[in-house]
Amino acid sequence: ARAQIGVTGLAVMGRNLARNFARNGFVVAVHNRSVGRMRSLVAEHGGEGEFVGAESMADFVAALERPRKVVVMVKAGAATDAVIDELVPLLEPGDIVIDAGNAHFPDTVRREAALAGRGLHFVGCGVSGGEEGALLGPSIMPGGSRESYEVLGPILEKVAATVDGVPCCTYVGPQGAGHFVKMVHNGIEYADMQLIAEAYDLLRQGLGMSAAEIGEVFAQWNTGDLESFLIEITADVLAHTDPLTGGAFVDVVADRAEQKGTGRWTVQNALDLGVPITGIAEATFARALSGSVPQRAAAVGVLAADTVALQVDDRDAFVEDVRRALYASKVVAYSQGFDQIAAASAQYGWGIDRGAMARIWRGGCIIRARFLDRITQAYEREADLPLLLADPYFADAVAQGVGAWRRVVSAATLAGIPTPAFSSSLAYYDGVRAERLPANLIQAQRDFFGAHTYARTDRPGTFHTDWSGDRTETEA
Ligand code: 6PG
Repeated sequence: ARAQIGVTGLAVMGRNLARNFARNGFVVAVHNRSVGRMRSLVAEHGGEGEFVGAESMADFVAALERPRKVVVMVKAGAATDAVIDELVPLLEPGDIVIDAGNAHFPDTVRREAALAGRGLHFVGCGVSGGEEGALLGPSIMPGGSRESYEVLGPILEKVAATVDGVPCCTYVGPQGAGHFVKMVHNGIEYADMQLIAEAYDLLRQGLGMSAAEIGEVFAQWNTGDLESFLIEITADVLAHTDPLTGGAFVDVVADRAEQKGTGRWTVQNALDLGVPITGIAEATFARALSGSVPQRAAAVGVLAADTVALQVDDRDAFVEDVRRALYASKVVAYSQGFDQIAAASAQYGWGIDRGAMARIWRGGCIIRARFLDRITQAYEREADLPLLLADPYFADAVAQGVGAWRRVVSAATLAGIPTPAFSSSLAYYDGVRAERLPANLIQAQRDFFGAHTYARTDRPGTFHTDWSGDRTETEA
């Protein structure tokens, strides 16, 4: 037994992760249910490092030095359980099973408890960065026991992306904390993508710019505060010409956004925790709306528009307004995502360090951005920051763009260009900064029809008014 780490499941992500370990000097045992994939990996990339090809699970486990470290990279769900069931009888106490897929965190909690009962460590590990990240350095979010991180951490930190010499990998927290944080990462990814799509739509429909022109705008934006992987690839995508039609590539792509579930899970969990992640939720629902084919077919050309064409005297100024609106909305989406992490950490007792999460998202992952440095710094200033948006740097940055944000949302509304994420983020901003919200009226209504009681602004206690009788107030 001489392999330092093993990877089972050699589809593109597992294959690239295995190559990444090998290229970093680790001896890697590789296994796949159908052996062809394992053989082709060793045949094509054997020169990159030391691979130990295993044809059976038993050989694979036997090839690993103890404590064994087994990375499982299969499709999240039943396939993960099947691999675990096959692996577990072959392992010994102290061995570590790492699930690097996009598992739903309650599944990770369940699996971790089951394996802990057998003396095994189960590490639900978020991995972001797509195929290229897996090969060249992803952002890695491992959960599970702290003890397992002592053994595993140095290996993962070596293959992770680095920013300023700091690895984009750290211990996240026990149980399902790693997969939870990856889930919220993906939720933020949805919000980021939707905001970019809305900005594109405003310039395309609103100003009538071509896809290629908008690509240039995004490339320009990528040199400033918005610098990020998603803005960069958007510029590339928009510049691409479809070889078949010779027109803009985006114009031949069907406008129905799909998803594999992580965004939906993020929103479901936010509802459970009562955290308003409106930006992520709108982004997830916007994907659902785009895929609501019969509803869209029933509405198009039937529902009245009554729109006012965008009144723009200064096109450059409008483009700049959109940039500022995008930045402000993005701050809201991240602020909400970090609120969700804080709430989950408190609820499940995970002790997640939000500053550390921002730090490991600076490189390797899909939402990597210059901006994450700023978030890291905000949590360095105050680890328990109650609201990222209210950190002095971000409060000021958003204040400088709030006028632009309002102009863009108003113009979009009048022009009938849907901007659910821009608009809901602005509504959140106005809601969270309001000295008084109309929730007072909701409480009064609840007390009226259901005696649900209310608190008063002027004295402590819980009260009820006898609405159907003489309307006297009693303290409950
Ligand atoms: C990442 C990505 C990755 C995957 C998403 C896509 O961080 O590398 O988030 O995990 O591309 O799951 O998600 P949807 O298919 O739901 O858009």
